[in-house]
Amino acid sequence: MNLITKTEELVKEILEQNGYGIQNVVLENTSRPDLGQFQINVAMSIAKKIHCNPLNVATKIKNELNKSELFYNVNIAGAGFVNISFSNNTLIGFANEYLKDLKQAFTTDYKKKIFIDYGGANIAKALHVGHLRSADIGEALKRLTQMLGIEVVSDVHFGDIGRQSGIIISEIKRNFPDLVFFDLNFKGKYPTNIPITAKDLDVLYPIASKDAKESEERMEEVRQITSDLESGNKGYIALWNIIKKLSIKNIKKIYARINTSFDLWEGESDCYPYIPTILEHFKKNNFMYESEGAYVIDVAEEDDELKIPPLIVIKTNGSTVYGTRELATLYSRIKRFKPDEIWYVVDNRQEMYFKQVFRAAYKTGLVPKTTELKFAGFGTMNGNDGKPFKTRDGGVMQLTDLLDSVKQISLEKLNPSITNTKQREEISKKIAVSAVKFADLLPNRSTDYIFDIDKFVSLEGKTGPYLLYSVIRIKSLLNKAIAKGLSIGKIEILTGATDKDILSKLVTLNKMLNKAFYTQSVNDIAEYLYNLITTYNKFYSENNILNEQNIKLRDSWLALSQLIYNISKSLIEILGMEIPEKM
Ligand code: ARG
Repeated sequence: MNLITKTEELVKEILEQNGYGIQNVVLENTSRPDLGQFQINVAMSIAKKIHCNPLNVATKIKNELNKSELFYNVNIAGAGFVNISFSNNTLIGFANEYLKDLKQAFTTDYKKKIFIDYGGANIAKALHVGHLRSADIGEALKRLTQMLGIEVVSDVHFGDIGRQSGIIISEIKRNFPDLVFFDLNFKGKYPTNIPITAKDLDVLYPIASKDAKESEERMEEVRQITSDLESGNKGYIALWNIIKKLSIKNIKKIYARINTSFDLWEGESDCYPYIPTILEHFKKNNFMYESEGAYVIDVAEEDDELKIPPLIVIKTNGSTVYGTRELATLYSRIKRFKPDEIWYVVDNRQEMYFKQVFRAAYKTGLVPKTTELKFAGFGTMNGNDGKPFKTRDGGVMQLTDLLDSVKQISLEKLNPSITNTKQREEISKKIAVSAVKFADLLPNRSTDYIFDIDKFVSLEGKTGPYLLYSVIRIKSLLNKAIAKGLSIGKIEILTGATDKDILSKLVTLNKMLNKAFYTQSVNDIAEYLYNLITTYNKFYSENNILNEQNIKLRDSWLALSQLIYNISKSLIEILGMEIPEKM
C-alpha cells in the first residue's frame, strides 16, 4: 500500500467528481508541520485556470477527505492550501507492513538496466581525494539501484593508458636501466616480477612527473615511451602489465577500505580490440574528417549557446586519445551489456568532454537513441581556502593519507572504556569511513564542499558518527529489552506526539528513494536518514521507553524502535557505511 499514491488518487477522484476535470495532484511535504503532515496545493492552480475561488475547491477536498478513516484533521490554511494528516491507525498499519517486510519500501516501477561508470582510478598514480567522491557517490547509487531491484552493472574504468605509463616507465628505466624490458634485442621470455612494490610506485611517480613538467627533454622521453608502448614495444608492454597488476592490487585494497567494489574492473585499454572497428565506421560514413593533421568528429548543434568544439579521435601523431577510448568503450558496453542507461559519475570539470562524447556517440550511431547517456557530475572537495583540498605543503592529498588521518582522530576520540586494541582499530576505521562518506554524500552532488575533519568526525551535528552512535543506541535499547525477556512485536498504539512524527516520515521513504534514483541524488537519502534519526532521538529523550508503565505503549515503542533501526541500517548500507558493534 503506497499511502502517497493512494491519497493523490483519492483527491483526483474528488476533483473529477466535482467537475474540475483530470488534474495532476501531488502530496507535498508540509511547510506548516503544526497544521498537518502533508499538504496539497492543487486548489490554487485550478482556481487560476478556471477563475474560481480556490477556497471552494479546497473545501470540497477537505470535506471528502475528512469522511475517510485514513485521515485525521484535514484542514485549510491561507488561500486554499489543504493540510493533510494520516490517522494513527493508518500510520500504524503502514508501519507494521514495513516492520513485517521492509522490502516493500524498496520498490520501483523502473524495469530497465543501468550501467554505472565510477571510480576511475589511474594505474601507477596514487588515488587522490578527487577519486573519493566518484567512489562514494557511484557506490551509493549502485547500492540504491540494487536495493530497488534494478539490474545494474558497475565498472571502475581504470585509467590504464596514456601519459602516466610513459612517466612511470621512464622513471623505472632511470633507476634500473639493466632490466631486460629495456633491451631491444631481448628475445627470451620476460620476467613477471620487478624489484618494485606498489608503495615504490607512489614514490617514483611524483618524482618523474615533476621532472617531466620541468624539463622538455624528459617530457619528450615520456612521450616517446608512451607512444612506443601504444604501438607495441614488447618490453614496455611486459613491464606495463606488471605495473598494472601491482597497482590494481593496491587500488582494490583502497577501494575496499571505503567499501567500494565493482562488477567489472576494466580499464580504458580494454577497448583496444574495438578501436579499428569504430575508426573504420567513422571513416566509411564520413563522420570524421581531417583537421590540422588530426581527425575529429563535429558535435556542434545549431542552437548551442556555447560553441562546442569537435571531438578529437586521432591526434596529429596518429595515436588515439581519451575520447577515442571512451567511444570504443561505449561501443563495447552496448554490445556486451545492452544497458538502457549509462551513468558517468565523474568530476564536473569533465562535463564538456562528456557532452562531446555523448553527441559523437549518438551521431555516429555507436549508441542507439534508446540508450540514455547521463553525466552524473560532482563538485570538488575544497580546503578552507575554497580551493581543491591539498596537503599542508600544497601537494595533492592522497586518499590513503586522508583516510589514515581521519582514522587517527577517530581513534583518539574513541570511548576509552573500549580497551581491546584490535577492536579499537576496527571501530575507528568504521567511524572514519562514516565521517568521510557522510560528509561527501550530504551536499548535493553537483556542489563543492569544504572538507573539515573536526566537524565531520564530531558526534554532534549532521555527521556520520552521530548517525552510527544513534543507531547503536537503538540497538542497545532493543538488546536490553530482549535481555529483560520482552519480545519485539507490532506497533499497536501511539501517543500521537513525536512517535507519530516518526511514522509520518516513513510515508515518504519509498518516494524519496525513487527520486534519489531518478535524479542520481543520494544526498536525498543522507538528508532523510539524518531527519529520521533526529526525530527518533527526540522521541528517545522524551520518553523512558523501557520503564513505560503502559505495557501496550512500551511494546509499541519497542516495535517502532526496531523499525527505525531496520530502516536506518538499510539506508546506512546504501550510503556505504558500516555500523560498529559499539562506540
Ligand atoms: N580516470 C579518469 C580521471 O582520473 C576518470 C575516468 C572517468 N570515466 C570515464 N569513463 N572517462 O580523471
